[in-house]
Amino acid sequence: MLNGERLTGTGRSKLTAALALAFLGAVTSVSGTSAQSAVPKPGASVFTTDIAPILQAKCEACHRAGSSAPMSLRTYEETRPWARSIKARVSRREMPPWHIDKTVGIQHFKNDISLSDQQIEKIVSWIDAGAPRGDPNDMPPAREWGNGEQWNIGEPDLVVMSPKRVVPAHGPDWWGDLEVDPQLTEDRWIQAIETKPVGVARRVVHHAGTTLIQPDGARESLSEFAVGKYGDIYPEGAGRLLRAGSKISFGVHFHSVGEELPVVIEVGYKLYPRGYVPKHKVTEVNVGVINGHLFDDLDIPANSVTRHEAFAKLEKAARIISYQPHMHIRGKAMTMDAIYPNGQAQTLSSVDRFDFNWHVAYVYDDDYAPLLPAGTILHTVGIHDNTAANRLNPDPNQWVGFGNRTFDDMLQCHVLLYYMDDAEYQQQVAERQAKKKSQTTQNQ
Ligand code: HEC
Repeated sequence: MLNGERLTGTGRSKLTAALALAFLGAVTSVSGTSAQSAVPKPGASVFTTDIAPILQAKCEACHRAGSSAPMSLRTYEETRPWARSIKARVSRREMPPWHIDKTVGIQHFKNDISLSDQQIEKIVSWIDAGAPRGDPNDMPPAREWGNGEQWNIGEPDLVVMSPKRVVPAHGPDWWGDLEVDPQLTEDRWIQAIETKPVGVARRVVHHAGTTLIQPDGARESLSEFAVGKYGDIYPEGAGRLLRAGSKISFGVHFHSVGEELPVVIEVGYKLYPRGYVPKHKVTEVNVGVINGHLFDDLDIPANSVTRHEAFAKLEKAARIISYQPHMHIRGKAMTMDAIYPNGQAQTLSSVDRFDFNWHVAYVYDDDYAPLLPAGTILHTVGIHDNTAANRLNPDPNQWVGFGNRTFDDMLQCHVLLYYMDDAEYQQQVAERQAKKKSQTTQNQ
């Protein structure tokens, strides 16, 4: 391998590294040994003062021992062998996994883990300059991560465990649903939810979502664990109803890591006090097949890139909390627009590099969450790439349609929102405008 580049055993990483190398073809390479002793130019970036703080803030959540990323990036020694791969992944915005198109729509999210343009530039120029270490005495103090067992939402009032599964040392990735009846005897309102694998399970759980199966059989997706996710805390006065008799289904994606490991996943709920009914009920609107628009229509011919649309009309005014595109391995991009009652349309958000391996819900900042008047139509456009250019595509010569299997496809946009009446909508819009105005005057 070039320059001490480490390749891990899976086909996927090899492929990725091969792409990374192709991408780097035109770039002057950095030799492993000479780089160790590279003398930084005055003012140039060095690991200890410039790069380590970025890795602590944006990478260590996943890239540390016991977490699911393939390597730790906590020290210079750990990071240096990966310089070439880091440059490729970071400059293509594949790492950290945040797939929002930065050129369109709202850019303010509570869970934004992406790098700024300046941070990308800093990392790339540091690697181009030979990845110098800098003075070891300048290393920032190590970031404390705890043991991963603590709840980010605070101590839950209710914890539900998944059935135990054993993930074999070697084998293909496993997707499936594990259902549990937590024997709930009363209706309660949820204030915050967090899903997390227990102990060693963190190493093999790529993602795990929970779905609430209401007593009448209705299914609503509830919460998701994906590496680097910290749980969902609903806006103040907003919640979701957990009905007596509901069941919880854990939808999981396991990934073997060369060692047989037992897996249990738990979901913790913080509940509003008994008898308290929050002002707003958080609801999931699924723009896609669920509305019946696409069920028969998802038509992805062999060797083609397709575009499909879905619509959902909001009968009442609404505030959007988060947006999560859902497609399978041919999924490439998804845009969510609002078509206002006056006919004007606006792109709210767009994911331009959808990656089936990551299920990210993009949670809007409170001051930027879309406020939509009654009668607005949510419009999503999904792009599927069924050509050989899609590196996850197992067979570009197959026609693909709707289905639950990974190799079938979907187009759904899971939108979490709450409805409100027109008076409250007007009030929220006015408050937002007043806040913006006072911020602008302060900045003058
Ligand atoms: C949310 C978790 C998460 C965050 C945050 C994250 N990574 Fe990753 N990273 C992963 C996982 C999981 C993989 C392995 C799967 C893959 O390649 O996509 C990976 C793979 C990589 C690889 C490819 C390794 C190889 O095989 O060549 C590089 C390089 C990388 N990450 C760098 C970074 C850097 C640099 C940051 C911060 C700027 C970062 N990552 C942030 C989870 C994360």
